[in-house]
Amino acid sequence: MAHSTPASARLIAGNWKMNGGAGQLREAAKVAAALAGKIGGPRVAICPPATLLHRLSEQLRGSGVLTGGQDCHVEAAGAFTGDISADLLVEAGARLAILGHSERRQGHGESDALVARKAQAASDVGLEPIVCVGETLIEREGGRALEVVRRQLRGSLPPGLAGRAFAIAYEPVWAIGTGARASEDDIVEMHRAIRAELMNLTSHGGRVSILYGGSVTADGAAAILAAPEVGGVLVGGASLRAESFLAIIEAAER
Ligand code: 13P
Repeated sequence: MAHSTPASARLIAGNWKMNGGAGQLREAAKVAAALAGKIGGPRVAICPPATLLHRLSEQLRGSGVLTGGQDCHVEAAGAFTGDISADLLVEAGARLAILGHSERRQGHGESDALVARKAQAASDVGLEPIVCVGETLIEREGGRALEVVRRQLRGSLPPGLAGRAFAIAYEPVWAIGTGARASEDDIVEMHRAIRAELMNLTSHGGRVSILYGGSVTADGAAAILAAPEVGGVLVGGASLRAESFLAIIEAAER
């Protein structure tokens, strides 16, 4: 445990993806209520669908629980039907933005270069980008996981992030929503490689949080969070219910 990240430096972020109506807001209220008055714990964020972002941000105002977007456009405004700019996320109360999630890279053809432009746009308006990277099963089985993630990192981080707040989320594509979590050894190996790359890429690379994401549940969270170079977790399915999300946050408090 000697090398684990201090609790207060951890980030536990929930990615609600395309889930959530009014009932989902009640889950967030339960999370905020359970965390009220606690000090020294991890930073906690919820990234809801864009339709809920403003309401959720208002609801969580003053609670210490942050909100974030799940994507942003590279431009500040204009004729981009269906898109949302980083400025609009800020106006809706967001403090963070998940960028380059594999569901965007695969489902919307997002390249490393586009993710880098989005990260720059988000950071320029004061959002903390959470830039996602991760290999597919074929890439891992072909022994190329480290190479793929290093390449994604080099391509997805714009030089303009130097000295600014941002986080990396290592999310192996095959572990997302499958129940098949990466082993602790594989997580540590990858996070160390990401750290080394960050140190090359930016002057404050030693301080950037590296989150793990992919089938994180309360069961495995404590062991993952205690591993070297793991600065938090990005949680999908288990962030939708207060009970399971709170259990992960509790694991990060220790
Ligand atoms: P699951 O936790 O549902 O596997 O999702 C992970 C994820 O994609 C978070 O961004």
